Amino acid sequence: MSYLFGRAALRALLCGPRFPGLLVRPSSGGPSWPQERALVKVKPDGVQRRLVGTVIQRFEMRGFRLVGMKMLQAPESILAEHYHHLKKKPFYPALISYMSSGPVVVMVWEGDNVVRISRVMVGHTDSIKAAPGTIRGDFSVHISRNVIHASDSVEAAQREIQLWFQSSELLN
Ligand code: PPS
Repeated sequence: MSYLFGRAALRALLCGPRFPGLLVRPSSGGPSWPQERALVKVKPDGVQRRLVGTVIQRFEMRGFRLVGMKMLQAPESILAEHYHHLKKKPFYPALISYMSSGPVVVMVWEGDNVVRISRVMVGHTDSIKAAPGTIRGDFSVHISRNVIHASDSVEAAQREIQLWFQSSELLN
């Protein structure tokens, strides 16, 4: 039998795939254990530069599942709550004005360790320090135009998802 299947295929047959997010279970519709979720937001510069498709492709190729997505002009009340911890920073007014300057695309991605992994995929906040291969390392031109936001902890993700989405807008 092993000459018919590669070792990886054989292991997947015997033990299941290495990435549970890729498991297709037609009968149940997906894994039965609770999956971690992260909020990912393509910022106005990312939308304007037509980077939404690239961002989606990177998360899909990594094996995560998209469970919610919408495009909107972010209300200032939501931005104020989202960035409340930065209110005293000198860049806060510029940040709110930039985030209000055009539509954003907010998404909820689901999968094992999606919060930690998406932060790695997004890269360093400052474009100068963002490694090539990360989204900011490949596309961000300046710290104040850094294309994308991703939740920095599981707790922040839960708070941000509740802030940006109604539960009826998310798939279970
Ligand atoms: S800080 O200062 O350490 O709390 O900032 P940091 O955690 O790196 O980033 C928090 C968010 O603030 C944005 N940011 C900025 N925006 C505009 N101008 C400047 N100089 C700037 N510095 C940080 C940064 O992109 C983070 O936004 P999100 O949406 O979370 O990516």
